[in-house]
Amino acid sequence: MAFIKVCSLSELPNNSQKIVPLGPHKIALFHFNNEISAIANACLHKAGPLGLGLVENKYDGLYVTCPWHGWEYNIKTGSAPPGYKDQQALFEVKVEGDDILVNEQPIVKAHRELHDLKVIEDLVKLEYQTTAESKNILGISTTNMNNDLPRYSTSEAALELALDYAKEHHGAATKMLKLRDLGFRACEGYYSQHMNACTWPCSITEMQPKDGMTQVYRDMILWADIVLVATPIRWGNPSSLYFKMAERLNCVQNQITLKDKVLIKNKVASFIITGGQDNIQQVAGQMMVFFTDLGFTFPPFSFLGWSRGWTAEDMDKNVLQFKRSEYIQRTAKELVDNSIETLCQVKHIHPENMKAPKPHRQDSLTAELINPDMNM
Ligand code: FES
Repeated sequence: MAFIKVCSLSELPNNSQKIVPLGPHKIALFHFNNEISAIANACLHKAGPLGLGLVENKYDGLYVTCPWHGWEYNIKTGSAPPGYKDQQALFEVKVEGDDILVNEQPIVKAHRELHDLKVIEDLVKLEYQTTAESKNILGISTTNMNNDLPRYSTSEAALELALDYAKEHHGAATKMLKLRDLGFRACEGYYSQHMNACTWPCSITEMQPKDGMTQVYRDMILWADIVLVATPIRWGNPSSLYFKMAERLNCVQNQITLKDKVLIKNKVASFIITGGQDNIQQVAGQMMVFFTDLGFTFPPFSFLGWSRGWTAEDMDKNVLQFKRSEYIQRTAKELVDNSIETLCQVKHIHPENMKAPKPHRQDSLTAELINPDMNM
């Protein structure tokens, strides 16, 4: 078991840290309180670079927090915080003159506890609930309202109309998710650190299975055949809750980039877009681009739009007019008819024959460039 010089003392002054190679692996070296310690650099969770983490005094000592999702390790012992049994590989360090040497074999081996993901096992294993015959229609209402002051939402009313019709006329199974009731964290942008930091299931879901997006993932990916998304128009765009959901669906789209794996199989999406003023086509275009990137198929004429024009500032008349509208009654049903007709075709697609013409990591212009801090 040989000691190997990994860097010089002058390169690691007190209160600093550094990632260095040790044989084929990388270790995180820490110099704090005039003591040097070394643990494996690859976090036991998803291999985030521990050497880039924040070192703080907490619990019973000095801990480094993984910059990807926040797992913590004692920098002197490699152990997880009190109450956890994970153990990071710990290496013996010695200083000779200006040389820092690390033993190439760990004195304490890494051990990763089995973290209980039973509650989201259906997502981990992608236990699809759709069948060749199923007609499962998921409505997602993205309007944001104060539930203590209930009021009429045109987008949600049209969605309810569509779902009722699907159930009564087509014998479809229907579900409605109101994003405002779910309560979920915003995407924290782990993808911007490394593609492997954006995981399926979403790392937020892993950490907090009760987060409201767990329901969206479960219903949208595993249960639904058709997804009807309803949004109001807010300053010419879909609602902020729609975007909050879309950002959390990054982990679904990223599976294509990461693993060449399309999670959305044989599914149809359509949209209900309502606003006092206009911009329906831009909202529809924006939503369609995102949902096509997830792998959904659209029927011809895949959205229903409602607006009364640029000068329609008499908003008190919007609901009145909407409720009376024959057009809404008719098109909500036609949207469902078209979606179900398309679903019949989409059921015959063999998803394994479909390619996702999306970039993979190796397509990057800097694919050859090596980031010395990363573990893969
Ligand atoms: S917390 Fe380290 S990779 Fe997730």
